[in-house]
Amino acid sequence: MNHDSKVGISKRSVMLGAVTGIAALAAPAFSATTAEKRLPGREEAVDDLRGKRALVTGASRGIGAGIALALAARGADVVITYLQSTDKAAAVVKAIEQKGRRGFAIQADSGDPAAVRRSVAETVQRLGGLDILVNNVGISRSGPLEAMDVNVINDVLNVNTRAAVLASQAAIPHLTSGGRIITIGSCLAERVPYPGLTVYSMSKSALLAFTRGLARELGPRNITVNLIQPGPIDTDQNPSNGDWADGNRRLTALGRYGNPADIGAAVTFLASPAAQFMTGSVVTVDAGFNA
Ligand SMILES: NC(=O)c1ccc[n+]([C@@H]2O[C@H](COP(=O)([O-])OP(=O)(O)OC[C@H]3O[C@@H](n4cnc5c(N)ncnc54)[C@H](OP(=O)(O)O)[C@@H]3O)[C@@H](O)[C@H]2O)c1
Repeated sequence: MNHDSKVGISKRSVMLGAVTGIAALAAPAFSATTAEKRLPGREEAVDDLRGKRALVTGASRGIGAGIALALAARGADVVITYLQSTDKAAAVVKAIEQKGRRGFAIQADSGDPAAVRRSVAETVQRLGGLDILVNNVGISRSGPLEAMDVNVINDVLNVNTRAAVLASQAAIPHLTSGGRIITIGSCLAERVPYPGLTVYSMSKSALLAFTRGLARELGPRNITVNLIQPGPIDTDQNPSNGDWADGNRRLTALGRYGNPADIGAAVTFLASPAAQFMTGSVVTVDAGFNA
């Protein structure tokens, strides 16, 4: 970007700030000059995460475990949270350590605000800081809205939506320039091909606006905020031999389920310096489910 266009953006921002009265729009806090330096290419490995410290929620199994292992494989130290699978969480920690990284597991119910905050504080204490927060935890409850108990509705909203908001809120004071918040939504946030998924889909669609809004808040600090929307991934929540499996396969362009590693690959990319220009983005990894 040349000097004139930088000045143009700056003037426009000031005008916007004046019109809306939002001071933050007028003055990015980080150095635009450094960030915008024209480079022919960058030399860093695409997803080198050596020295980074990450927290992945809901990672004793399934997609979260895949993300934790992918981050560790690229050099990050990783804390995971879980609800009740102590042995499975310990196995994930062992696999992280076998990659030469530090790993810790924290039992913390993502439906409990105090536990969410505690898990972030403990992560910072154990790793000495936090660079990457992955809001992965989520539960699926299906059925007609007409018959859904209010406690079930609360559980879905608390774990799928509120936990991401609260974990991010607790993480923000610890994140520095280059920090990352990556949330796992669902392709069902955008299209709902079956009845019975009303509340689950709603809980995931809220993450879209959350991601975009928070990207605006944290952009001036050079912290990026992005959303990954998986399609059918073979886990306990959505087994590739389950009742929904054949219908899900038919809805994909590739005609198959994915693996947690497919989501881990997207997370490591977004977490890496190579993705420094991506924020407020929605990355769909769904084999064409929503195509
Ligand atoms: N699988 C798919 O096809 C698919 C598609 C789109 C989006 N997603 C999303 O991807 C994320 C991961 O899904 P998944 O398929 O890997 O799920 P999963 O196989 O059911 O695994 C869930 C993980 O979250 C933990 N967890 C559940 N409730 C928790 C709570 N209240 N507090 C703390 N941890 C809790 C579980 O811990 P325990 O082992 O201790 O129970 C487990 O580690 C979710 O947000 C899901 O909505 C999945």
